Amino acid sequence: MTHRTIRADMSNGIEITRCVCFDLSFCVLQKKCNERARSIAEISEEFGCGSSAGCGFCMPYIERMLATGEVKFHEIL
Ligand code: FES
Repeated sequence: MTHRTIRADMSNGIEITRCVCFDLSFCVLQKKCNERARSIAEISEEFGCGSSAGCGFCMPYIERMLATGEVKFHEIL
């Protein structure tokens, strides 16, 4: 996803659907977690989200995804 794409998405309202640092959609991550339950720590270790190699911006969304099954978010958490 490019910065231009992010701006275009935000002009129609915010939609957060992925870990940008590791190019991993919450939809794909949810499917992987349905196949085998994973903790936040396991997700971070296996996919990189929230690790020291990334920004960690996605972590509140992943926590909410695990709790509710949501994969698209329209607010900053
Ligand atoms: S957006 Fe997931 S680590 Fe940066």
